[in-house]
Amino acid sequence: MSRSYAVETSDLTRRFGDFLAVDRVTLQVEAGEVFGFLGPNGSGKTTTIRMLCGLISPSGGRGQVLGFDIGRESEAIKARIGYMSQKFSLYPDLRVSENLAFYADVYGVGRSERTARIAELVTMAGLTGRERELTANLSGGWKQRLALACAIVHRPQMLFLDEPTGGVDPEARRAFWELIYNLAHQGVTVFVTTHYMDEAEHCNRIGLMYGGRLVALDTPVGLKRSVIDGAVLEIEGMPQDHVRTLVAAHAGVSEVAPHGARLHAIVDDAALRAPQLTALLTAAGIEGGRVEAIDPSLEDVFVTLVGQQVVGEGSG
Ligand SMILES: Nc1ncnc2c1ncn2[C@@H]1O[C@H](COP(=O)(O)OP(=O)(O)OP(=O)(O)O)[C@@H](O)[C@H]1O
Ligand SMILES: [Mg+2]
Repeated sequence: MSRSYAVETSDLTRRFGDFLAVDRVTLQVEAGEVFGFLGPNGSGKTTTIRMLCGLISPSGGRGQVLGFDIGRESEAIKARIGYMSQKFSLYPDLRVSENLAFYADVYGVGRSERTARIAELVTMAGLTGRERELTANLSGGWKQRLALACAIVHRPQMLFLDEPTGGVDPEARRAFWELIYNLAHQGVTVFVTTHYMDEAEHCNRIGLMYGGRLVALDTPVGLKRSVIDGAVLEIEGMPQDHVRTLVAAHAGVSEVAPHGARLHAIVDDAALRAPQLTALLTAAGIEGGRVEAIDPSLEDVFVTLVGQQVVGEGSG
C-alpha cells in the first residue's frame, strides 16, 4: 500500500461471532479530504471507524491510517488522530476548561503549551465566556463543539467524527460544519459519518455502507450522475399512498419514494413522463396533483442505491 493516502483499506472485515459487521471494505481517503461515511443504522460505519482508530482489530483484510498499519501500529495512529465517538464522553461535572485540560493531559500536550492551546480551542469553538461553565449545563450544540475541541487538543492530522451532529439544531449543525471546513483548510483529513443529506452534500467524497459492504464511493456529483439513470420528478397529490401506487405502475418509472410530503419518482425521460403523470393524476381525481422535474438530490441517490441492494438481496 502507498503512503500518500490518509486512509487506505483493502478487504477490511470485522465479524462479531457469526455476524459480519464489516464485509471486505476497500477504500482510500486522500489527505486533506472531507470524507462522508453514510449508511443506514447498523451498516457498519462505527465498526469501520473503530478499526481505523485502532480500537478494535480487524477479522480480516488490511488497513493503514496516515501510513501506519491499523493492526501493528495502532499506538502511532492514536497519537496522530482525533476521534469523536458516536456517544462521545465529556465529563459533565467538569467545567469547560477542565474538560479541555483533561484531554490535553490524556493526549500528552506539554505543560508549556497547554494554556495557550486551551485558550485557542475555546476561541475556535466559540466558547469564550463559558470556560467556567459546568459542561452538564451546556446545550447540545455547545457540548458538541467542546467535544470537537477536546478531540483536536493535540493537533491531529486526521479526525474521525462519528455522527457528530446527531440531535442538534440546524444552526448548531451549520456552526459545527464551519469548524470542520476550517480544519480541512488547515490540511486536516476529516472522516465523518452523518445521516444528514445536506451535510453529505458538502463532503468531497462519500462512501455508502449497506449491510457491512461499501456499495458506492464517489463525489456527490459523481454519485448523482452514475446512480440516477434518468431524471427525477417531484410529485404532489393526496392521498399519497394512492398517488404512489399509480405512479409506480406507470411506464418509464423505476423508483418512487416519499420525500416528506412529496414523492420523488425516477423516470427515464422527464419531458415525456411529466405530462403523462399529470394527466394520470387528473384522470384519477387526485387532489392537488402536481408533477415537476427537479435536480436529483443525494437522498434520491441513496434511496435508489439502497433499493438496488434490497432487490439484490431478494434475488440472491
Ligand atoms: N461489539 C459488538 N458485538 C456484536 N455486534 C456488534 C458489536 N458492535 C457492533 N455490532 C453490530 O454490528 C453491526 C454494525 O454496527 P455499527 O455500530 O458499526 O453500525 P453503524 O453503521 O455505525 O450504525 P448507526 O448508524 O446506528 O450508528 C450492527 O448490527 C451491530 O449490532
Ligand atoms: Mg454508528
